[in-house]
Amino acid sequence: MKNPKILEQLESWIEDNRSHTILGATAKYIPALANQDPNQLGICIMDHEGELYEVGDVNVEFTLQSVSKILSFIAACDHHGLDYVLDKVNVEPTGEAFNSIIPFEIHRPNKPFNPLINAGAITVSAILPGENIPAKYDNLLAFLEKFIGKRLYMDVEVYESEWKTAHRNRALAYYLAESNQLELEVEEALEIYIRQCSISISLQDLAKIGLVIAYDGFDPISKKQIFSKEIARVAKVLMVTCGMYNSSGDFAAHVGIPAKSGVSGGILAAVPPKWHSDEQAFRKGCGIAVFSPAIDSNGNSTAGTMLLKQLSREWDLSIF
Ligand code: DON
Repeated sequence: MKNPKILEQLESWIEDNRSHTILGATAKYIPALANQDPNQLGICIMDHEGELYEVGDVNVEFTLQSVSKILSFIAACDHHGLDYVLDKVNVEPTGEAFNSIIPFEIHRPNKPFNPLINAGAITVSAILPGENIPAKYDNLLAFLEKFIGKRLYMDVEVYESEWKTAHRNRALAYYLAESNQLELEVEEALEIYIRQCSISISLQDLAKIGLVIAYDGFDPISKKQIFSKEIARVAKVLMVTCGMYNSSGDFAAHVGIPAKSGVSGGILAAVPPKWHSDEQAFRKGCGIAVFSPAIDSNGNSTAGTMLLKQLSREWDLSIF
């Protein structure tokens, strides 16, 4: 049953944090994202019984962008096994921007540092199961359908806008190809990567995905195991150490919830059950989705991050 106090708190925190949107701006390097209304802020939380707490601008659809990277990582691991995927990408933070060329030039790594930077995500997209790009994309959508019971679709305008302006990602893919780290041709790898980034999602569906990740791949509502606990453990480590890019340390210290951001302004967060604090809200865990398209220089939603800081502090949601 919905707890009215939680809704009241969320309503007041949304208003407290909306002003933080002025500290950021919509992503300009993908023209279709630049046009989003920067003042929006919405949150949706799904508890372990499927109860939804939705406050602010919640009737929105936005593209997954980098949030898709953790989902394609999980999908690839579910198909190939964790060892196969970790043979292609490492699990190390970089300290560089998500689309940086620097790690290639300075470190010349034999595989990308992690699957949440663009180089690692392009590598993982290329090994998604399927004989060709439409099949890989379809298999990813089919995997996501297991979480939310419906087929997601692609925002074609965002896809085309990103495809035309993906100069840096193309450069990254050529670096990967040069060192034989890409299992597809450059243009094919980019196509599947940009398709996954352009998948459109609602806050409600994203919160459900967060809930399943929080429950180690188990859906507490349908009681089905969607992916293995072993994969969930590594996914959550990646979310904590690399999910918010160069702000991951600050986010871990002040929010302490495994999370993944995207440049469209979405944040996916997975709050695992915390059995020892009976008095707190969401002690049995929850999935959280936040949307606010004004982002900072690291690519994270400014108001969304501040809102998560506040609710984690008030409800003691940190896993640390
Ligand atoms: O490849 C890109 O640049 C975008 N499709 C995704 C980047 C992104 O979302 C980084 N996140 N904060």
